Amino acid sequence: MTGGEENRDSALMREWFDATGAVVMGRMMYDTGEEFWGDNPPFRTPVFVLTHRPRPALVKEGGTTFTFVTDGIHSALDQARAAAGDRNVDIAGGASTVQQYLREGLIDELQLHVVPVLLGEGLRLFEGLGAGRRNLEPVRVVDTPLATHVKYRFVK
Ligand SMILES: NC(=O)c1ccc[n+]([C@@H]2O[C@H](COP(=O)([O-])OP(=O)(O)OC[C@H]3O[C@@H](n4cnc5c(N)ncnc54)[C@H](OP(=O)(O)O)[C@@H]3O)[C@@H](O)[C@H]2O)c1
Repeated sequence: MTGGEENRDSALMREWFDATGAVVMGRMMYDTGEEFWGDNPPFRTPVFVLTHRPRPALVKEGGTTFTFVTDGIHSALDQARAAAGDRNVDIAGGASTVQQYLREGLIDELQLHVVPVLLGEGLRLFEGLGAGRRNLEPVRVVDTPLATHVKYRFVK
């Protein structure tokens, strides 16, 4: 994209673009982003939106397509994997979507972007994941003025 400042966050965004071949998100994330993303959304890959309400696919500028998936998280992931080829599938959010994939053990890497803002309430990302423990291996931490980007890999 154009504009803005060139800094360490730019490098992380570039890395994300290069590595990501498809995106999965929940319908709430889609609804909150739809207007802001405009005609040329920042994904530039196929995006699979989980919902219980069927609707026709949307083709946007720049390579982004939105496909609305009504038959569950496994179907969305299968379609995203097929579309992504050798590249990663990004489970982008929101909390309900990420929690379901975490519960099923379908996430390989977890990237948290911790922003220096304290919110007193809201949805909790790590909730309802079931009992038991899964170990994570730290991969890297990148600290920028806007956020601390922490990446973990689940230990198999
Ligand atoms: N900070 C971030 O990086 C980030 C990222 C993403 C989202 N967000 C925020 O998180 C909030 C949304 O989070 P959320 O947890 O409420 O919602 P979400 O995961 O984005 O979407 C939940 C919706 O997705 C659909 N859905 C989820 N699982 C499904 C399944 N297995 N089968 C069919 N449909 C399914 C349902 O839509 P229907 O009601 O249509 O059936 C459900 O109401 C928004 O405010 C968004 O802005 C933040």
